[in-house]
Parts: sequence; C-alpha cells; structure tokens
Amino acid sequence: MLYSKKLGSIRVCAAYFFGKIGCNGRLFVFLDKNNYFFKKTLFYFFVGYFILWKSLTWFGKIIDRVYLDSQGWQGIRQRGEILKSVLRQVIQDNFEQGVTTNLLDVACGGGRYDLEVLLDFSGGAVNALLRDYKAENVQKAQELALHLGVSATIEQADAFNDDDLNRVLPPPNLIVVSGLHEILPDNELIRQHFQQLYRLLEPGGTLIFTIQPYHPQLEFIARVLNSHTGKPWVMRLRPLELTEAWATDAGFQDFQVQMDNFNIFGVVKARK
Ligand SMILES: C[S@@+](CC[C@H](N)C(=O)[O-])C[C@H]1O[C@@H](n2cnc3c(N)ncnc32)[C@H](O)[C@@H]1O
Repeated sequence: MLYSKKLGSIRVCAAYFFGKIGCNGRLFVFLDKNNYFFKKTLFYFFVGYFILWKSLTWFGKIIDRVYLDSQGWQGIRQRGEILKSVLRQVIQDNFEQGVTTNLLDVACGGGRYDLEVLLDFSGGAVNALLRDYKAENVQKAQELALHLGVSATIEQADAFNDDDLNRVLPPPNLIVVSGLHEILPDNELIRQHFQQLYRLLEPGGTLIFTIQPYHPQLEFIARVLNSHTGKPWVMRLRPLELTEAWATDAGFQDFQVQMDNFNIFGVVKARK
C-alpha cells in the first residue's frame, strides 16, 4: 500500500490542493469549455486524486529506479549471480565424480540462491540443509521451496552455535556462508567461525563465503536502513586479505575469488 490510514487526511487535503491548482490553471480546459465542472469542489478532488496518484506513481518509480540502480544494489545482484554459478559448478563437479553434495547454508535468509540452483539438479544429486536463526526467514524459505517444487530441509538454527552445528547430518561437503559475516561487527566471532566450519566440513569439501571490502554508500545506508537487529545498519567492511588470513589459519586453502564490477562484494571458494 502506497498510503497508510494515518496519511488519509493529508491525502484528501493534497488531492484538493492539486485539484484546485489543476482546475484553476485550466489544465483540463479542453474537457470543459463552459467551465461547468471546474469550479465544483468535488471535481477538484477527482482531478486532484488523478494528479496525485499519477505523479506519485511516476515519481515513486523514478526514485525506485535510481535506488535499485545504485552501485550497491547492482553489486548485490551480481554477487547473487556469482554465488549461484559457483554453487552450481561445485555441485556439478561432485555429480560428475559420482559424489552426492551434502549442502549446508548456515544463514540462508529467504533461501532463493540455493533453491534456484537446486532446481537445476534432479533428486539424489544434493541433500540440502538450509538454516537461518530467524523463524520468519525459515518460513519464507520453506514457502519458496514449496513454490519452486524443490526438496530441501529448512530449519531454524544459530550459525555460530557449536551444538547446532554438531547436529548437522550427514556431515556437509559444501558449506555456504553468504551475507552473514558482513553484517556482524565482531572480528573474533568471524575468525572463530572459520575454525568451526573447518571442523564441520568433510575432508576435501568446499566452503563458499562472501566478502565485502568496500561500499560506496556506507553512511547513507547507516543513516537510512536498519540491519537484522533493528539497529542502524553500520556495515562492517573487511579487506579480502584479512578474511582470507582467518580462513587460512583455520586450514582452508586454494582460494578463488570473484568480485562484482564495482569491487564491493565478492564470492570466495576455498577447499578443506
Ligand atoms: C544479509 S542476510 C543474507 C541472506 C542470504 N544468505 C543472502 O546471501 O542473501 C543475513 C542473514 O543471516 C541471518 N543471520 C544473522 N545472524 C545469524 C545467526 N547467528 N545464525 C543464523 N543466521 C543468522 C539473518 O537472519 C539473515 O537472514
């Protein structure tokens, strides 16, 4: 809904105001040469609603377009595509070697990336376990899986909790951590997370994680948007070298990095 109930009276006044300007300014004079309707208050509302509705629709669309075409959102969309292609390639490689992929996504959000990739593989190629600590995201992912007709286990769990991680069966040979580390300010938590994930992953398995070394709208986002905690979304930027060093210390190797065109977001593939 574009308008809330609270805005009702503002909307009526604005409609009247715009209508009066529109009518008095004879914007529609060609419709009513005898001036029969234009002086009628009711007609002000009618014209006003039309002008308001049209201008808000167009104005809203322009604002949306500018916002969605910003480098940040283009980068996020590119990261999504890169992530899906890396994920698809790992599953395909496993499949060609006769290995079933046991996929674990520790913070899947609405699960779209994973579920769209799973669509490309027939049953048996992948056992997918998608997790998020928010019940509403789990529900969204479950609904999307149902909608796409994709089979996956989707459950609520904490990505950093050892008890939750130890419950993962069968042990994963592919782990995805996308968009999680970037929203958390605690370096030590992330550093240890690589060690937790290394312990969990099957020998020879693959870890796919995302990085965000830079963002052109850091201050804008911090002032305008809230993060998953409900607090201002102050992004935590970390250079690739720092994150890669933590992953290397944990035991990961063979890093392959793909960045979006603006070097804002990246997808890293590493092997245990
Ligand atoms: C920015 S979203 C990323 C979602 C998705 N992976 C993606 O790349 O689009 C971050 C997600 O991490 C989840 N999250 C945050 N802290 C978590 C935790 N401790 N355990 C599991 N999920 C968590 C949030 O609920 C949210 O869905």
